[in-house]
Amino acid sequence: MNRRKATLIKGPDQHLDDLNKVEDNFVHLARLALAGKRHDVLLLIRRASSAFRGKMPEMAEELNQLLREASASETPLRGDTVAIAPVDLDSRLNLATVEQLPELAHEPIWPAAVAGSLQLIVDERRREHELAIAGLQPTRTALFEGPPGVGKTLAARWLARELRQPLITLDLSASISSFLGRTGANVRNVLDYARGARCVLLLDEFDAIAKRRDDSAEIGELKRLVSVLLQEIDNWTGPSLLVAATNYADLLDHAIWRRFDVTVKFSTPDPNQIPLAIRLFLGDDITLEPNLAGALELSFVKCSFSEIERVLTAIRRQAVVRDEPVDDLIKGAIRKRARTLPKSVRFEMGAKLHEAGLSDRQVHDLTGVSRDTLRKRRTAAMLR
Ligand SMILES: Nc1ncnc2c1ncn2[C@@H]1O[C@H](COP(=O)(O)OP(=O)(O)OP(=O)(O)O)[C@@H](O)[C@H]1O
Ligand SMILES: [Mg+2]
Repeated sequence: MNRRKATLIKGPDQHLDDLNKVEDNFVHLARLALAGKRHDVLLLIRRASSAFRGKMPEMAEELNQLLREASASETPLRGDTVAIAPVDLDSRLNLATVEQLPELAHEPIWPAAVAGSLQLIVDERRREHELAIAGLQPTRTALFEGPPGVGKTLAARWLARELRQPLITLDLSASISSFLGRTGANVRNVLDYARGARCVLLLDEFDAIAKRRDDSAEIGELKRLVSVLLQEIDNWTGPSLLVAATNYADLLDHAIWRRFDVTVKFSTPDPNQIPLAIRLFLGDDITLEPNLAGALELSFVKCSFSEIERVLTAIRRQAVVRDEPVDDLIKGAIRKRARTLPKSVRFEMGAKLHEAGLSDRQVHDLTGVSRDTLRKRRTAAMLR
């Protein structure tokens, strides 16, 4: 190590950076080794080996030899248990998580367009060989765009499950906040790690890059990260599928999102999907009176899948623990949600609740529509 340091000191100025890295990394290596973190030590050696390849090929080769000697069965991606991908050496935070074979708690509900796009990605990979004969590659990179809680992360898991591949997830938001000064290197490290495995790599919270633009302290860091990502997305090769998920595609650097092979737009459930979501999250054992179900569906207009799930799961829990009738809990949920809805929807809900056998007083209590208005609208509807 000393001999190599001396070589570096005599070299051009930019080598001083490398020297600092050597020193830093040596301290980290010692720390990891003493803490018995074998996987992290292996990752650091792998990273060092590729960093030194250009300027110190001998050392890189020695490190490679050490890696070869380490048992292949003990490298992180091949372990039996869920492995943890590279960590940042300063903060010790995970840069990514690895799920060997992701499972889903329930089958997703996809709008036709989303289902079509996702299935095509899967079919292309299943028929990779035929594509290759035609001189084509399957979709390499995809951008998932849409508001919170509509299934972007779920879709990445679904893809990994359908393809029977591990899901490696990099949380860019966590990476940027935690690794100032190192983000580019850290992200590249995870991408290298994922490229080597046949997996689905999810860059979650992709908009974190765009959202943080205004923070001047981070601008240099973000520029570095953007350039790393541009290169990586452009040059993404190999068997893994790279998926990025974002809430705000508009905020993303245009140069980034136009580089993806495909963009899939996710949205809140449409009126036909809300009943399916209610059935999914309420469970088959609970049957609602059709008009009460209709009012509940209206109360969920423009809600995300995850919001519907949250409300209905809370109701199921309460029904068990407090032994309260589900219908009453549903009415409570309608009451809470009605306050946020436009008048026209509340009138419609009122009509359904009336049909469900509720008195005008009860309907007024749930929807906030006055009894007088309820009566007038009913009369007007009868005359039509
Ligand atoms: N299309 C869907 N079908 C069924 N359930 C869904 C669907 N979308 C979301 N959910 C439910 O909502 C939960 C959260 O969804 P997910 O994490 O995929 O949202 P997201 O779009 O990634 O949101 P965010 O932008 O906040 O990360 C899922 O675990 C699932 O239970
Ligand atoms: Mg998500």
